[in-house]
Amino acid sequence: METLDDAGVYQLTDELAIIQTVDFFTPIVDDAYMFGQIAAANALSDVYAMGGKPLTAMNIVCFPTESLDISVLKDILRGGIDKMAEARVTLLGGHTVVDTELKYGLSVTGTVHPKRLVTNSGARAGDKLILTKPLGTGIINTAVKAGVVDDKTVAKVTKCMATLNNTASELMQEIRVHACTDITGFGFLGHTIQLAQNSRVGIKINIAAIPFFPEAGELARQGMRPGGLQRNREFYSPCVEMTGEIPAHWQDILFDPQTSGGLLICLAPGKAARLLGRLREAGVEEAAIIGEVVSQPRGVVIVTQDENE
Ligand code: CO
Ligand code: CO
Ligand code: CO
Repeated sequence: METLDDAGVYQLTDELAIIQTVDFFTPIVDDAYMFGQIAAANALSDVYAMGGKPLTAMNIVCFPTESLDISVLKDILRGGIDKMAEARVTLLGGHTVVDTELKYGLSVTGTVHPKRLVTNSGARAGDKLILTKPLGTGIINTAVKAGVVDDKTVAKVTKCMATLNNTASELMQEIRVHACTDITGFGFLGHTIQLAQNSRVGIKINIAAIPFFPEAGELARQGMRPGGLQRNREFYSPCVEMTGEIPAHWQDILFDPQTSGGLLICLAPGKAARLLGRLREAGVEEAAIIGEVVSQPRGVVIVTQDENE
């Protein structure tokens, strides 16, 4: 709990620990079925980030029975169930309350061998960093609400948010890594700073290597920013060093709160190219090596821009 890790872990025996987590939120897309998938993928992600295998889940639903038809809820739950089936997770039940605002998510239980647990406090100086999904979903979702995003972009971003982090998690466990976290509401920089602080290291990232949706860059330039982006910037800026001229819309993308974002994995430099190759082979095509761990300054993320790397 004290390290702000992704989920809670409780050791049962020498060989078995359970990982527990809960996540639910208001709709971020119009399509009820896809919202169900995204909410489930997002809730499962905290187990994957710790190198665990999710086993069971419970639905959490807040539903406005007066303003929405019950068919909407059916579509959301169907999306969640399909995503759980893909993750080989058994739905055990759930709880529904009447609320003025719709919310959906899961509480998830997973397992991990206690010695194979991956936390956000194990990064070592010299490690390389791999990010597995592109950034910018918060900016694009805000623009979707404003009605200025085309259907093709909506479909692309929706699919990305609904994609499980299971493949990346399994591959990182095979190859053995030092630390991991998933990128969600605190944005890329927020979660990276937490990782740096908990691991007592510094992190240097190369913005030219970071995968992001090009549409998000354009929309940020037009002033599309979710409320959480500004809050993340205010909270985390003191721990960020921007070197050189980092364009404002790129800074926005780094602070942008993500829904069901990718994994940020720290591993020995000699293994980074191998894991990247396996990720891409397995269909995690946007994965990229985006920076490295340094010994100083601790708890700080240094943002550089090196096109040649
Ligand atoms: Co998380
Ligand atoms: Co979470
Ligand atoms: Co009950």
